[in-house]
Order: sequence, then structure tokens, then C-alpha cells
Amino acid sequence: MPSADAPLLRALRGDRPETAPIWFMRQAGRSLPEYRELRVGTRMLDACLTPDLAAEITLQPVRRHGVDAGIFFSDIVVPLRLAGIEVEIEPGRGPVFASPIRTADDVARITAIDPAEVAAAADPVREAVRLTVAELDTTGTPLIGFAGAPFTLAAYLVEGGPSKEHLRARAMMQADPDSWHRLAGWLSGVSRAFLRAQIEAGAAAVQLFDSWAGSLDPDVFRRFVAPHSKAAVQDLPVPVIHFGVGTGPFLGDMRLDGVASAVGVDWRLPLDEAAAIIGPDTTLQGNIDPALLGAPWEVLEQHVRGVVERGRAARAHVVNLGHGVPPETDPTVLTRVVELVHSL
Ligand code: CP3
Repeated sequence: MPSADAPLLRALRGDRPETAPIWFMRQAGRSLPEYRELRVGTRMLDACLTPDLAAEITLQPVRRHGVDAGIFFSDIVVPLRLAGIEVEIEPGRGPVFASPIRTADDVARITAIDPAEVAAAADPVREAVRLTVAELDTTGTPLIGFAGAPFTLAAYLVEGGPSKEHLRARAMMQADPDSWHRLAGWLSGVSRAFLRAQIEAGAAAVQLFDSWAGSLDPDVFRRFVAPHSKAAVQDLPVPVIHFGVGTGPFLGDMRLDGVASAVGVDWRLPLDEAAAIIGPDTTLQGNIDPALLGAPWEVLEQHVRGVVERGRAARAHVVNLGHGVPPETDPTVLTRVVELVHSL
């Protein structure tokens, strides 16, 4: 068990530890040469379901950067694979499904699968988390588990693959609301089962990724999306971080009525403005601009100092990027950002 005094867990509870905790979304992965070496010859989803490989990839950035948390190496589509759905991750592209879910019949077929199937097939996930947590415990570093939010999963599933504006999922909501709610409710159960498996095996906090929620207007987010995201994470025994890109127009709703301990903010919205919207009961996470990881150090340093300064307006702050680490990032820059934040 990580200590309850771990800076990440304190910040999620609303305390302000002596130094702000920091971790990076997508810290495990392509920016690390040791990751690229381990992944040779193994498909992404096979790597996710090979326990010793997933554990080692999760640990690499923690050892290298000295971040305040591990983020479990997996993918938002792993629980769908565990439910028996044909999905692959195409390098450079993203998740691709053999059969898109577009009609009421498609929805009826997929939602006939019991989300308990995910729990039953999740032993490789539990084993990977156990191996990871055994090593993280030697330094008291917490592991963050995660899952995709129903809308972001549906954005891939309805389209059949990556899309820019997620038109088909957004159309289904209003053209056939019954099918939409059935699908989103089912995805919520699937992600919840995936989260529970990680928590049972030792994850100390979880993050729900609604990466593409920024394509929704506030009213649609409230009516068609938020209730399903809330159902995925409410009453879990660990703190919940809720993240999306471009969610400024409905940031307050990202609290999920207080179910989320922390809300992630992308680089577009200054944290002091985000704090004014989010209020005194929720921690903020973010929001270093990933684009600046490639800028001269002086530029990046000023920016990071500004993010930490503005973050003081929130009840507590978990430093992170506004979205994931770009694959071409020089990893020594990430280590330097961690050292800087820990020195402030
Ligand atoms: O370090 C971490 O953050 C943990 C691992 C993690 C991965 N995917 C590993 C991964 C996490 C948290 C995710 C979540 C995920 N997957 C999200 C939400 C987070 C976000 O970035 O908004 C989304 C939208 C996906 C779907 C997905 N999987 C995409 C868009 C891609 C990239 C495709 C590409 O090649 O550009 C993936 C593949 C993926 N997931 C990789 C990694 C390390 C790259 C796989 C590789 O090495 O080829």
C-alpha cells in the first residue's frame, strides 16, 4: 500500500503537500527508448495483456523521471478486447474495430455481452497491477489506474476507428437516443469493471479519460454523457480524476457532482480561471502545454513556473500536461520539469 501521505493522494484529498506532485499523461510509451526496445515484435494490445511487460513499461518512467505516480500501462480499449470484441491498435493511427456499432441492432448485439465478462477475463490486468504495485511500494509511490469514459470509447466504436469530430457518435445521441443511452450505459459498466480490477489489485487512484468530450456542447454533455461517466466512477473506494481536452465550456460539470476528487484541465484554460469555475471542493490537474516540451528550456521553465503559480488558486494542484506526452519528446526534458516542480 502506498502511504496515505504520498503527495499525489494528499493533493487529491485537497491538502497542499510541501511540493506539488507531478506525473505525465502518456509518460509510459514512445518518448522512452527503453519502451521502444521492449515493444519490438509485440502488438500494442498483446503488450497490455502480458503482465510482466505491462508492469515493466509502467515502471520505466517512474524510475527515470522520479514522478509522483505511475500510470498503468494499458489502453482504453483493453476492456473491450476482454469483452471479446475484435479491436486492434494500428501504429500511428489508434484503435480500429472490425465491426463498427452504428445501428440499433449493432447496439443490441454488443450490449448483450455481460460486463461481468470483463471482470472474469481481467486476470492479466490484475497480475500486471500486482507486479507493478509490489515494486512501487518500495518507494511509497502510488499507481493510478484508468479507463476510457463512455463518450470517448463510443467515439471510436461507432465510427469504427479514429475520427476528428466524432460525427457518428454525436449523431446517434440525438437520432436514436434509446440506442445511445443503452450503448453508453453498457460502456460505463465495461469501464467500471476494468477500473475495479485495477483497484482490487492495488491501484490507489483512478483517472477517467474523456479525451474527446471537447467536441460536445455543454447541454449535450450534461444530457447524454455526464450521467454515464458518473455511473462508471461513483462509489469507488479510491479518488477519481476526470480528464478531458477542450472541456472549458462545461468544466464545472466535469466534477460529476463531486464524484471526481480532481478535474484535469488542458492548456487552453489558465488554472486560476479554472479554479474560479471549479470551486473549493475539487483539486485541479494540469496544464503544461505539451507543445512547449520542444521549446528552449528558458521558455518551458517560465511556462512551468506560471502553471504552478496559477495552480495556487485551486484548493490543491497535481501538476501534469494539458494532454499526453508527444512521442517525439526528449525524455531528459521531462526529468528536468519534474526536478523544477519539486524545487518550487
Ligand atoms: O503512460 C500512459 O499514459 C499510460 C498508458 C496509456 C496508453 N493509452 C498507452 C498507449 C493510456 C492512459 C492510454 C489511454 C488512451 N488510449 C486514450 C486516452 C488518453 C489520451 O491520450 O487522450 C486514448 C484516446 C487512447 C486510444 C489510443 N491508443 C490512441 C489514440 C493511440 C495512439 C495511436 C498512435 O499510434 O498514434 C493508442 C495507442 C497507444 N496507447 C500507445 C500507447 C503507449 C502507442 C502504441 C505504440 O507504442 O505504438
